[in-house]
Parts: sequence; C-alpha cells; structure tokens
Amino acid sequence: MSYVSHLECSVCGQRRQGGQVHNLCECGGPLLVRYHLDKAKAAWKRDSLVSAPTSMWRYAPLLPVRDSSHIISLGEGMTPLLKVDRLGSKLGAKNLWVKDEGINPTGSFKARGLSCAMSMCVELGLRKVAIASAGNAGSALAAYAAAAGIEAYIYMPRDVPQSNYTECRAYGAHVTLVDGLISDCARLIAERKDAEGWFDISTLKEPYRIEGKKTMGYEVAEQFVWTLPDAIFYPTGGGVGLIGMWKAFEELEALGWISGHRPKMIAVQAAGCQPVVRAFEGGESRSTFWENAQTLAAGLRVPKPLGDALSLAAIRASGGTAIAVSDTELLDASIELATASGIFPAPEGGACVAALEKLLSNGFLKPEERIVIYNTGTGLKYLEAFSTRFPRTSRSEQDKLGGLITPR
Ligand SMILES: Cc1ncc(COP(=O)(O)O)c(C=O)c1O
Ligand SMILES: [Zn+2]
Repeated sequence: MSYVSHLECSVCGQRRQGGQVHNLCECGGPLLVRYHLDKAKAAWKRDSLVSAPTSMWRYAPLLPVRDSSHIISLGEGMTPLLKVDRLGSKLGAKNLWVKDEGINPTGSFKARGLSCAMSMCVELGLRKVAIASAGNAGSALAAYAAAAGIEAYIYMPRDVPQSNYTECRAYGAHVTLVDGLISDCARLIAERKDAEGWFDISTLKEPYRIEGKKTMGYEVAEQFVWTLPDAIFYPTGGGVGLIGMWKAFEELEALGWISGHRPKMIAVQAAGCQPVVRAFEGGESRSTFWENAQTLAAGLRVPKPLGDALSLAAIRASGGTAIAVSDTELLDASIELATASGIFPAPEGGACVAALEKLLSNGFLKPEERIVIYNTGTGLKYLEAFSTRFPRTSRSEQDKLGGLITPR
C-alpha cells in the first residue's frame, strides 16, 4: 500500500490532490509527491524489507502507485553497490564505491523513473505518452510502454547513440529524430501534445519519474545498512536523480530509518554543457541556457534543466559542489574505471571518476571519506563514442555486420 498524501508545487507550495493527471503547476514549478510520513513511520518497519521484492518496488509504501496491480516492472533497481579498491588505490581514495545503474533494464537508471511514471499512467488511465529525451529516457520509456501496452511518442536529437534509436524502434515506439537538442524536442512536443492527446512525460513535467529515481537514495542507505556515504558523485543533466536522492534522504530521516550526516552532493557536468556548474559558481539560484551544448556524454547534454533550482539548492544544502570535466577526461576516466574494476561505464559515469580525481587532488575530498559514484548507465550503449578509442579496421562491409564470426 502507498502512503501517498498529495502533490505539492516545488516553487509556490500550492497543493493538489493525488490520483489525478497533472503536469506542471500554473506557476511553472515541478510538482513533488508528498506522503503521510507519520503514518508510514508508525506502520512500516525497515526490517520488513527482508521479504520485500528485490526491485525498487520494495519501497512501494513511499512510491505513488495505490493499486499494486498497476505496477509495470521489468526488474529495475536493487543494483549492485561495488567497492572498487583497485581504482581507489590508483586515485588515492580508500573507501570508494560504484553504484552500478548499468545493470537496469535498458541499461540505465532511467528505468527507475519510467517504471514509476508508466505505472502511474496505467493507474490514471492514460493511453498515449510523449517524451523529449537525450536518449536513455527514450529507451526506457519505449520498454515500459511496450510492457504496459501504451503508445509512446519519442522525440530525441538525431545524433543520439545508435543504441537509443534502435531500442526505441525495437520496442515499437514512434520515434521522431530532431535536428537539435532535448530543448528543441521539448518545444515540439509542447506544440503538438494537445492536438495529439499525448501526456507529456518529459523530465519533471510530471511528478512521478522523480519518485522512481529517488529509490537510488533508498538503496544506497539500505546497502550501507542505514548509513549514508560522505559524498555522492552524480552525472547531472536534468539533475533529477540528484534531487530525487536528496528527497529520499529527507524521507528516510522522517521515517527514523537513518540519522546523522547527509552526503555532500556533487553534480558532475561536461565542459561543453555546464549550466548547473556555471550557476553554482556564480552563486545563482537558477541556471541560464547553455548555448551550443556539446558532449559525447549524451545524457549530460541538457542546456537548461527544468529542475535547476532544486539541484542547486540540494548541492548547496549538502555542502557539495558542481564541477565540469572535458570529453577527453571523461572518456579516459571511463576506460580507467573499466580497466581497474570490471565495470564498463557510460561516459556519464566516467565523468564522475574524472571529477573525483580533481576533487581529491584539490583537497575538497579526503582519502578516508566514503565516496559513491553513480554509474548511471552501461558503456555498451555508447559503442560509437568508445570506438573512437578502439577503432577496428574491417576488410569489408560484411565484417561490420557480424561476418567476423565466419571463418575465412
Ligand atoms: C546515462 C545518463 N546519466 C545521467 C543522465 C542525467 O540524468 P538526470 O536527468 O537525472 O540529471 C542521463 C540523462 O539522460 C543519462 O542518460
Ligand atoms: Zn506553483
């Protein structure tokens, strides 16, 4: 059962009833789900998790779905939290961990948000959904829409990784490739959605994806036996994972399941698209549009995140920071992580390793601190980007299509 209470605007605080279809507040603010935390505290005990499902739905009491028959799950969440000692000793971090989100369905943490949001679409009777995506959210939406039997309309930049486009098509989604960025995709959906009868499930434009993503925060607490790390590195595009985890820590404190300090939240961006870093360094509460955004870490190519104010507030409240790394650094660091740990990360995850190196060498972090890097996806989804480091010459077109397994 869910302890959901109501929805609350993150900007003006206005309340709305749950169980109804909502996008943004009239003031333009994203809506957040609130729960009866006092009732949950009285009745829901963390020891009961022993017999809970081994997916993110183990936290169903603090997720918004009221009727469990509406849950659309492909086994998302409960991803491994891995101690990476060989990488740690190379970098001078004695207590370094990777939360490997690449294990999720469709190979990224986006599965969490879309499992939750699509379950809510089923609960609310929505039949057609549209998304503006940097790539991985499109793949995840397509998969969960296929599982739910809902029609998905996906707008993404023409130059997304091939994996994203292929997955969306294979899952039967309607895909529109756009000559532009996620911001252009969002505009096109806004223009068409009313005429087409689409529900806009783009980042923070509905209240439920963040609820799925927050489970990354519940899990890290549970996996560390109800303690939190000293620092969390999160590759920040829209920033929703970071905001979600911050919300999760607040909720766990209200339940009395954790106490003590919260981690420093460290937002990592790419040098070619760093609106949150610029706003953080400038002391601003909101970001401004990053012109000509460019990075091969496709998920970080978000020039003006809708959740910028919430991310910046969480970073500051946590005593964290925001830092950018170049594409060369993030690709080098991805390969360094793979070689030293056996985890082949998305370039977004690699960006966190590059950022960690910088923050250890400038003394922002100490070697003894317990540090968690969120590897938000698998490197297998970015073969074009990695093939620039590992080019393979082929003798014919046939070789590229699997002819390699044929003996000559
Ligand atoms: C692999 C990966 N990492 C990180 C992000 C950024 O996520 P968020 O919107 O939570 O900042 C994305 C978004 O597309 C992504 O695909
Ligand atoms: Zn509002």
